Amino acid sequence: MKLVLNMFEASGMASESSLGSCSGSEEDFVPSKLGTKEYWDNAYSRELQTYKDIGDVGEIWFGEESMNRVIRWLEKQNTPENAAILDIGTGNGVFLVELAKHGFMNLTGIDYSSASIELATKVLAEEGLTNIKVQEQDFLNPSPELKGFDLCIDKGTFDAISLNSENREMAKLQYVSSLRAALQPQGHFVITSCNWTKEQLLQIFSPARSVLSYRLELLQELPTPRFQFGGVTGNSVTALVFKRLS
Ligand SMILES: C[S@@+](CC[C@H](N)C(=O)[O-])C[C@H]1O[C@@H](n2cnc3c(N)ncnc32)[C@H](O)[C@@H]1O
Repeated sequence: MKLVLNMFEASGMASESSLGSCSGSEEDFVPSKLGTKEYWDNAYSRELQTYKDIGDVGEIWFGEESMNRVIRWLEKQNTPENAAILDIGTGNGVFLVELAKHGFMNLTGIDYSSASIELATKVLAEEGLTNIKVQEQDFLNPSPELKGFDLCIDKGTFDAISLNSENREMAKLQYVSSLRAALQPQGHFVITSCNWTKEQLLQIFSPARSVLSYRLELLQELPTPRFQFGGVTGNSVTALVFKRLS
């Protein structure tokens, strides 16, 4: 199991690009292969083979604490164990495993990479978790059945989608629209991102003026490690909880 703290460790890109994308303004964004389905298909095909060979589940994006802080928040809210939870872009499915270990039993994971779904299915089966739904789905073109969730979780998926070179603005709008369809009124959305600051995520998911007939409101920022560089203090990852108001 490898801990990956940002989008560029995995792709082996230069640290300059990493800084430009992970802490810069939106204009600094450099489209990357991490924004393509081909990249994830290849990545998870390799991880699937490694899993078959040596049982290693592969990369844990942003480290284990990124899962623990969300689970702590869920437990603090007394989230019912039967809450319907969707993991958007589940990758190897390890977040689903952790949620199940903490008692949550109504879990769904989707990913647009078939190799990811194959890997997640194997990882879950190995843990005896055959009641968790994992489905190959593009969140930017979801099935009409992907709805009614009390909680939607995103760890690194919106980041990956934002790195697509084509139609990035459309992809962001489509993501918000798919989230709207998936989330129940009063439901929560927890996003962990290394590419977007709190302010940018607020502009995307909770804009002051919205043409949408529903609103997401920032409920809480979950504490993440802070760093200091050149007299500026920042966070390497941002974790926000939104609530759907209507
Ligand atoms: C950085 S990885 C994070 C994986 C997982 N959430 C984790 O924390 O380990 C990004 C994931 O998003 C998935 N993904 C990217 N775009 C997607 C889309 N449009 N629909 C569904 N999944 C997508 C990728 O296949 C990949 O599994």
